[in-house]
Amino acid sequence: MNKELSIGLIGFGCVGSGLYEVLNKSGLIQAKISKIVVKDRYKRRSIKQENFSYDVNDILEDETINVVVELIDDSEQAFEMVKRALASGKDVVSANKKMIAEHLDELLELANSNNVSFLYEGAVAGSIPILRNLEEYYNNDSLTSLQGIVNGTTNFILTQSNYGIGYADALAQAQELGFAESNPTLDVDGYDSKYKLSILLKHAFGLTVDPKELFNLGIRHISPHAVAYAKEKGYRIKLFSRAEKLGDKVVGFVAPHFVKSDHFAYSVNDEFNAVILEGLFSDQQLFVGKGAGSHPTASAVLSDISALKFDYKYEYRKVDADSDLKFSNDFFVKVYIESKYIEAINEVPFYHIDELFQSDQVNYQTGWVKFSELKTFDFNHREDLSLVILPEVLKETINTEKVANRPLLETLYN
Ligand code: HSE
Repeated sequence: MNKELSIGLIGFGCVGSGLYEVLNKSGLIQAKISKIVVKDRYKRRSIKQENFSYDVNDILEDETINVVVELIDDSEQAFEMVKRALASGKDVVSANKKMIAEHLDELLELANSNNVSFLYEGAVAGSIPILRNLEEYYNNDSLTSLQGIVNGTTNFILTQSNYGIGYADALAQAQELGFAESNPTLDVDGYDSKYKLSILLKHAFGLTVDPKELFNLGIRHISPHAVAYAKEKGYRIKLFSRAEKLGDKVVGFVAPHFVKSDHFAYSVNDEFNAVILEGLFSDQQLFVGKGAGSHPTASAVLSDISALKFDYKYEYRKVDADSDLKFSNDFFVKVYIESKYIEAINEVPFYHIDELFQSDQVNYQTGWVKFSELKTFDFNHREDLSLVILPEVLKETINTEKVANRPLLETLYN
């Protein structure tokens, strides 16, 4: 079947205008943008004002429109519009990761009961076709782990830090290039990465994990000392969304990681994203591509639109495949914790300490911590504490008791 597509486009920002260009200029697929609805009547845009209307009902109530492409910023407004579109029998393509992460099950139910498609490849890792690969290639239970740089803005900022460019300047540049969210806190504090991780958990392991349950630490407090530590050890710092099977559970979180030079993500720079999958039999596979920006994200939306011509739907085969699989925060991880204040480091319970460094400028400690305890710290808002995950594998258990680290550090200091 090769369905005629008449598209109602909601939103004409960075990705919406990019889609207009790639769809209309490329002529690659036969699909017509019939109407474009935007919110702000007075904003200057790349095409004439007569192309726009300002009432979403113009799309949602138009029976000749059979596809709604939702590309707006506000996730709650988007949710209402997408629900109405699905309920009225229209296929929907969206790139709204927050909306999808927070409401996926409800939207799927609605899509299923109305026998329409709900596709969102552009919501995760921009131009990389990761959801389609998880759906089609990994349509069984053999996937064991995924690790991804899925936020272009933070990868861009981290890359700039290697050239000595400061955080504020790099963020301003990422905003100018159209990579950052309109509220860049979502990028730099790891929220965007965790919405994407929540979606990945569904397609990779069949798990619904509320983003509120997922730990997210961004890059705001990565200090020049951590960058220097990375250089000294031959590491780079990357913000990973990470999930893996550990025993009979799945664990996952978002945090900055030190990566070694032989890691697949080591040379993935700027706004490029990377997803590394590991399967029982395939070993590691690396997917790389631009993860943010107008045309790269629009290319994923375009691919979803073209899949609608053949009534493509995600099948979520892993959702029932292994119903015993549960999400858990119960594991150990090796970390680097740094602070100007020893007392701040001592708040974090360690089970094994590998390195201690103290000076009047900075203190840091590396070693093993219990993730469920680490998760109780709001590191994004702790200007006195900075955390980076070390390259060692995650462990289900370790053989040591909690370390009484406070006296040890004080002794060394005095
Ligand atoms: N702000 C997002 C990023 C846009 O930087 O990756 C793409 O989802």
